[in-house]
Amino acid sequence: MDQAYGVALLRSARRDPSVVRLEGVHALKHALRFGASVTAIATPDRDQLQRLLADLAPDVVLPVEVIEVDADTWRDLVGRELPSPALAVAHRPDVPALPTPDVPGRLVVLEHPRHLGNLGAVVRVAAAAGAAGVCVVGDADPWHPTAVRAGAGLQFALPACGRVDVLPEIERPLVALDPDGDDLDVAGLPPDAAVLLGTERGGLSPDLLARAVGRVRIPMRPGVSSLNLATAAAVVMYA
Ligand SMILES: C[S@@+](CC[C@H](N)C(=O)[O-])C[C@H]1O[C@@H](n2cnc3c(N)ncnc32)[C@H](O)[C@@H]1O
Repeated sequence: MDQAYGVALLRSARRDPSVVRLEGVHALKHALRFGASVTAIATPDRDQLQRLLADLAPDVVLPVEVIEVDADTWRDLVGRELPSPALAVAHRPDVPALPTPDVPGRLVVLEHPRHLGNLGAVVRVAAAAGAAGVCVVGDADPWHPTAVRAGAGLQFALPACGRVDVLPEIERPLVALDPDGDDLDVAGLPPDAAVLLGTERGGLSPDLLARAVGRVRIPMRPGVSSLNLATAAAVVMYA
């Protein structure tokens, strides 16, 4: 690929809603393993990147030639320190508002998550645990570069849906994760549940709570009021 064209693609990726920016080797590796169409990859140090890929992802074949850029161009492209010397861009897949009910596993529904790092961490654990998908109610974009970085690119491994204003009707039992619910180990959780998790500070809205067929809590030691959003998601994904 022509170097100037590749750099231009990477530069415009922040503003272009049709693409996904992949920051670091982990995001690039997972994106490629799970079928991303990567159109440009840049690094300030091709040898180091090749060593990292050989070590962390010997199975991964890069679909395009890596562009090696000078330090100024790299700084300009990344804007902040990256975890490892790789920046790539991929086509953003078309994802439906919700995965179809026949997709096996639990669906994670996040209501107005505030922190893209939490959102990415939920995607990561949901993908690892074989969830049916992650759906976001609200403005947070599961494909935002910060969420993709925290999700280690695993947005490509499951339907990462969302930015719906209201959760559509779902043919799955809606179960609220709520620190005031019934104990999870007693109440249980259906394998095809849509698990509802609330916003970091305020928890689930009354509207979404009213739609749930049950409320379950992850037991906590007295005095502890709640778990971090992504931690709570991890517990129920493996429950
Ligand atoms: C940081 S918590 C919000 C805390 C909020 N003050 C509340 O009372 O729900 C974010 C979300 O994680 C889930 N969560 C956290 N800890 C939980 C627990 N021990 N049991 C069930 N859900 C929990 C809930 O869905 C909650 O809405």
